[in-house]
Amino acid sequence: MITIHELRKKYIDFFVTKGHAEISGKSLIPENDPTVLFTTAGMQPLVPYLLGEPHPAGKRLVDFQKCVRTGDIDEVGDESHLTCFEMLGNWSLGDYFKKESIAFSWEFLTSPKWLALDPSMISVTVFQGDENAPRDETSAAAWAALGVPKDRIAYLPACDNWWAAGPTGPCGPDSEIFYWVGEGTPPALSNKGVDPKRWMEIWNNVFMEFNRVDEKTLVKLPAQNVDTGMGLERTVCILQGKKSVYDTEAFGPIIEAIEAVAGYAYRSDPEKDRSVRIISDHVRTATFILGDPKAVMPSNVGAGYVLRRIIRRAVRHGRKLGIEGSFLAKPAAAVIDNFAGPFPELAANRDRVLDELIKEEEKFLETLVKGEREFEKMLPNLLKNPQKVMSGRLAFKLYDTYGFPIELTEELASENGMKVNRPEFDEAYKKHQELSRAGSEQLFKGGLADHSEVSTKYHSATHLLQQALTIVLGPHIAQKGSNITAERMRFDFAHPAPMTKEELQRVEAIVNEQIARDLPVTMEIMKLDDAKAAGARALFGEKYEEDVKVYTMGDFSKEVCGGPHVERTGMIGKFRIQKEQSSSAGVRRIYAVLE
Ligand code: SER
Repeated sequence: MITIHELRKKYIDFFVTKGHAEISGKSLIPENDPTVLFTTAGMQPLVPYLLGEPHPAGKRLVDFQKCVRTGDIDEVGDESHLTCFEMLGNWSLGDYFKKESIAFSWEFLTSPKWLALDPSMISVTVFQGDENAPRDETSAAAWAALGVPKDRIAYLPACDNWWAAGPTGPCGPDSEIFYWVGEGTPPALSNKGVDPKRWMEIWNNVFMEFNRVDEKTLVKLPAQNVDTGMGLERTVCILQGKKSVYDTEAFGPIIEAIEAVAGYAYRSDPEKDRSVRIISDHVRTATFILGDPKAVMPSNVGAGYVLRRIIRRAVRHGRKLGIEGSFLAKPAAAVIDNFAGPFPELAANRDRVLDELIKEEEKFLETLVKGEREFEKMLPNLLKNPQKVMSGRLAFKLYDTYGFPIELTEELASENGMKVNRPEFDEAYKKHQELSRAGSEQLFKGGLADHSEVSTKYHSATHLLQQALTIVLGPHIAQKGSNITAERMRFDFAHPAPMTKEELQRVEAIVNEQIARDLPVTMEIMKLDDAKAAGARALFGEKYEEDVKVYTMGDFSKEVCGGPHVERTGMIGKFRIQKEQSSSAGVRRIYAVLE
């Protein structure tokens, strides 16, 4: 039976035989992309190339990419939803298009040499057409030519068959591939839609030839690109004839570790099984985030907050299984052992992953103790209520002030013969959610294309900043992270002490001097070793392809970097450092703006 590790390798091997260069190994934390907190699709690291930047590895690319999507986090616990998954992808940057892409997919899926899936269990969808693009007869004809019967090809509208990473950016019609997981023989497909309970989507071929600039403007990209994404866990589930991704070995060892700490046998109680699945999904996601070379730590903002929520939810479900104290390090170790082959960063960062998990768990357990104490204090008053109902507002206060989860408040209430006014709590909670969502939507405002010009300027400014820091502080100041929004840049670097006012002024002056010199910015593709020999700065611990892009800014800076960048430093604007502070032990953080 094929394993996830074998499927991943087969996919790469297949596309390598078709002339694709492997580019796997990108971080889960997108750099210089202010529109997302995590890499949510295989195409995310490729956005600049889909928009027209040349890729150093060529026009045919293949990779496996770890992705995190937390939009469906509340659905996790069923048999299929995941917050962390791997996407297998092949890419054509203006090379082949619909016909070849579809033929590759079909060959890989059905050829006895590759996956040998039964063609009669496969169906596909293509774009129905609208004012943006015509009905996709080219893709339908390509499927038909391979032997897919007409009644297994459905034409669906944009909500199903138009793919975009965000409100703006590269996009286009797609053709999706499904495998029959229902009972009996698969029926004919209709143009009304595909029943997701009986047809599992395993692969999506997106024909990216458009760029959405804003709500009203869709423009053609410089090239006709292909972006495909195959769900690794789902496909292996089908290949193994399993009903659930949680029954594959992507989760087996993690579930075993949870069974051992909980003293519970998976598949003996549906309610507990749900908790086991939630813990196993969440611990896998947290391990991948903490094990990333550009890891974020649990915090109260942005990606760190998502991580914190994931860990806390896992702890809470651990308590439901009767686990006391911290336990996540055990299933996390199982994740590391199982995935360190394809993701060596997990083994390299093993201590950090386990330490951070334990720290965060202990912190949360303290919160729980505090919440319980507050509840005890409220109890005498609560018991006076003749209806034995605790107000939702009070329950919300426990949640809001102490982070105490509503389910635990309900549990404590019920132990004392009471109920919580849940509709009232839900209302307060919804209001709170709306407020915080409004906040986080700010992050998506505008999307990729709107921000891209500003982001590019900030991105070029980080190169100047890094070189200026090297001049003022010394060659030890390795970059530890960078984050750009439309409003500011943040740059983390290794340095043992706070910077003095004079040092900051000098750095700022040097950057502005290089901007004033209006240096030309040029790009060259070369072998990584040659780039290093030429004195180009490269990130330590980052996985690069053999051929890399090197950006040079006049005689001032040379860095291995994916781009894009401004054409001349004069386009950057005036650079101003806002503050300098500690980021973590031995790492300083600078916030700066362009004016
Ligand atoms: N970008 C598409 C997806 O995520 C195909 O890779 O489904």
